[in-house]
Amino acid sequence: MTQPLHIGLLGAMPEEVGSDLSHLTDLSCSDHGDLTIHRGVWGDNIRLSLAWSGWGKVSAARAATRLLASDPGIDLLLFTGVAGAADPALRQWDVVLADAVVQHDMDARPLFPRFTLPALKQDRLQPQPAWFNWAKTALLEAHSAGDLDGFARPSSGLIATGDRFIGDPAVLQALRDALPDLQAVEMEGAAIAQVAEQEGVPWLVLRVISDGADEAAAQSFEDFVKRYEQKAWRLIEALLQRCNSTPPQCP
Ligand code: ADE
Repeated sequence: MTQPLHIGLLGAMPEEVGSDLSHLTDLSCSDHGDLTIHRGVWGDNIRLSLAWSGWGKVSAARAATRLLASDPGIDLLLFTGVAGAADPALRQWDVVLADAVVQHDMDARPLFPRFTLPALKQDRLQPQPAWFNWAKTALLEAHSAGDLDGFARPSSGLIATGDRFIGDPAVLQALRDALPDLQAVEMEGAAIAQVAEQEGVPWLVLRVISDGADEAAAQSFEDFVKRYEQKAWRLIEALLQRCNSTPPQCP
């Protein structure tokens, strides 16, 4: 018999995963310093281990590492939350599934080319195709079925991560010049992707646009996350409802 699917779910802030844990049954939790891992079951048998990492790459990497070490057997690490738009065509509530992530502030030149992660000798990290295709199909199906009420049609593309909230059009333009296919910017995704790659665990980064990474970004972000908190579970549950077609799990 196959084990029930076990997903590690991370967001930077409670507002980004929905602080309401009533969506889960059989709840328990453990504290690790200032990080709490909540565990529960969603639906009939999907196991979730969930934590709010805090902002930035170090906090995200620490939470990912702690989650994977505390709960061996996690089949997928999913980071979700909001992001600034780098593609001017994107609007608030647009959903972006990362087909690749990059740490835009990694720069070990001249020893390594810009953006290359010395640990992995790669600049862009890509999710496993089977998991990416499952999530993309699930999101499109959910959208067509009207299960993503309030969200716009999901798309996929490059997401860049760095320890900087981007609210300056010149900074954003410089990033777009360096990464012309950039869709969105945030502060955690590529950090958990690196940890997951190094730990040999599949990962996905799923973001919803909160702001334009421009002069209005801080205000837009603050207003948006208050409204997003009510809706965050809808996006997560759209995926969980479609878990019967996930790729084969870890042995
Ligand atoms: N997360 C949401 N909006 C962001 C922005 N403008 N810059 C970095 N991270 C973000």
